[in-house]
This record gives sequence, C-alpha cells and structure tokens, in this order.
Amino acid sequence: MIYLDNAATSYPKPPQVIEAVVRCLSEQGANPGRGAYPMALAASRVIFEAREAIAELIGASDAADVVFTLNATDGLNLALKGLLSPGDHAIASAVEHNAVLRPLSALAGRGVAVETARCAHDGTIDLDHLEALIRPNTRLIVTLHASNVLGTLLPAAEIAALAKRHGVLYVLDAAQTAGSISLDVGELGADVVVFSGHKGMLGPMGTGAAWISPRVEVRELRQGGTGGESERTEQPSTRPDRYESGTLNTPGIAGLGAAARFILEQGVAAISEREATLAQRLLAGLVSVPGVTVYGPPPGSPRVPVISINVAGMDAHELAFLLDKEHGIAARSGLHCAPSAHAVAGTLETGALRFGVGFFNTEDEIDCALSAVAAIAEDAGRRIG
Ligand SMILES: Cc1ncc(COP(=O)(O)O)c(C=O)c1O
Repeated sequence: MIYLDNAATSYPKPPQVIEAVVRCLSEQGANPGRGAYPMALAASRVIFEAREAIAELIGASDAADVVFTLNATDGLNLALKGLLSPGDHAIASAVEHNAVLRPLSALAGRGVAVETARCAHDGTIDLDHLEALIRPNTRLIVTLHASNVLGTLLPAAEIAALAKRHGVLYVLDAAQTAGSISLDVGELGADVVVFSGHKGMLGPMGTGAAWISPRVEVRELRQGGTGGESERTEQPSTRPDRYESGTLNTPGIAGLGAAARFILEQGVAAISEREATLAQRLLAGLVSVPGVTVYGPPPGSPRVPVISINVAGMDAHELAFLLDKEHGIAARSGLHCAPSAHAVAGTLETGALRFGVGFFNTEDEIDCALSAVAAIAEDAGRRIG
C-alpha cells in the first residue's frame, strides 16, 4: 500500500512513538498524578515530559499553558465554547473544517452570532472582508492555519495582528500545520492554538493539544478529579489541571511526547522542506495530466502537502476506489468534513479526491501515484469520448 492519506492521520508513525506507547503500557501503567509510588511517578513523568516537548516545539514559555485534548476537535470545542457567550459575535473563514463549523452552529443556537469571511477559489482569505465584519460585540475570530481540502495557508500572524488591533481574540486551528510548519505561539500572537497529535505531529490517534495564552480566560468544559486540591468541590483554577479532569490518555500522550521529540530532532524546517518537495512534485505532475482538475494554490506557491483533484468523467469515490483496488494507493474522497471549503472550490456537489502527503512518503511513491492518476484519467477520457 502507498499511504497518501496523511491529512486524515499520519502513517506510519516513527518507531520511537510506537516504543514509547509500548513502554508506557508495560512499564509506566499507573494513573499519572494519582499516586506517590514509583510507577505512578513514572506515569506522571511521561505526561510532564510530553508537555515540555510540545511546549518547546511550539515556543510556549510555560508548559502549563499546554493542555492535552482528545484531538483538534476537542480543543476547538474547548476554545469556542469556553470563550463565547450568548450575545457575542464570532467570525470564521469560509474554508473551515466541521471541527469549527459544528461547534459554532451549536453556539449559534445559543445566541452567538456567527459570520464568515470570504475566501477566493483557491482558499485565500479576504482580509479586508474579515476586518469589515468586526463589530463592537465581536469576541473572536477563528480560522484554520491551512485548509485540509485546498492546502492553502492562511496568514495567521496577520490575522492575529488584525484581531489584536480590534481587541478581538484569535483562535487558530493548526490541525494541518503543527509538526509540519514552524509555529511559535509567542511570536504568532494568537490567543488559543489548537492541534491534533495524530496528523503532522506524528503521534497516536486520540491525542491533541491546545495552547491557551496566559492572558486569556477560557472556561473549562468538564469538571472532575484532577489528582490535586481534592478537598474542594470547585474545579481547580490552576493550569493545566483546570482543563484535564479525569484520567489522561497516558499511552497516547507518551507517544505524542516521543513524536514531539522526534520532530525536534529532525527540525520542523527540514520536515517542512521534505513535505513541500514531495507535494510540489505531485502537484507539478498532476497539473499536466489531461482531464485532471487540481484545486488550491498553483504549483510553486507555499502550501501544506494536501492536494485535491477531480478527474473528468469520473466520480471522486470511483477514483479513490480505482486508486486503491488497481494501484494500492490509499487516498480519501468526498467532502473531507469541510463542506464550506468545497463550496469555495466549487466542488460541494462532486466532492474531490484528496492526496495527503507525509514526511515518510518517497519520490517513488509520488511517481506511482502520478502514473496511476494518468492511467485512470486516460481510461475515463476514452469512456467519455
Ligand atoms: C483543519 C482541520 N481542523 C480540525 C480537524 C479535526 O482534527 P481531529 O480529527 O484531530 O479532531 C481536522 C482533521 O481533519 C482538520 O483538517
């Protein structure tokens, strides 16, 4: 199998990640933060070290501001529901994932007004429109850092500066960029940065994290045991305990910590460059295949390694089926949980086939994918005459 679905979740994981999960389950299997005997302390250390590694990776000066979540969706629910109240106004971009759209839709049913900033066909955001939407009761702007359909990078630092000028908070969904694109939360100026642990971060599924600026007060969504201040019935206000009630996914976090250390060793810049080289090779090949439509920024423009296409005369699901059955290539068809991004690209009715290139893909695999698409497109072309 050639795995080109890394935008959904990355595969394979670095061996260090697998080893850390196994070591945690076999040697560090007590409840972290809940005991003073050696194995409980070892489990607490796993969590501590993972938090420190992530803080280092994203430039957080205090690791206590890094909160473990189940995935990016969980972190976005925390940020949006923990910051927005009835009467508030929120602005999202036109290319958001359902991880943002659905919590906002639920909040709209509870008195939060939501508006959308326009994006061009290739996913580029219209910053003038975004700014024009700001009202006196605008509480926050939320955008993704990179589109999981189009690969387009949104100018997060510019949006953060714009938000700050207007006294508005900025929540950044870095699901498609964390681990792949250099992120420094100190420099960026966003108020909450949320990401998955299992995509470009190369950690296990069921992991994610949110960095919450120390300047910002986010209400916790869950209350419960944290292993500390147990005599009080009120939720502790200290970070990260406030946001981490109940037993954590220690094996997953062990893997995520190992993944963050792997990325630190490789260097995000080297990972970015490698992924960009592979993605540009795929993109350059795809745009020259007759009958193939490629969405998102043109070859040569900065992007994340996510490339969506359609083949003339063929349904996107059929394309995914043929890639899998005839060529052993795993890629994802449909709407990718991002109907608005497809609406922007003009593919809401048809969906598209998405290639998600990852750090462990090779040039040979990219070339195989190109030959496969060319062969399928040629057949489809013959079929439609
Ligand atoms: C831009 C974006 N945001 C959020 C998510 C949700 O991530 P998770 O599955 O970790 O909740 C995804 C996953 O595809 C995504 O691409």
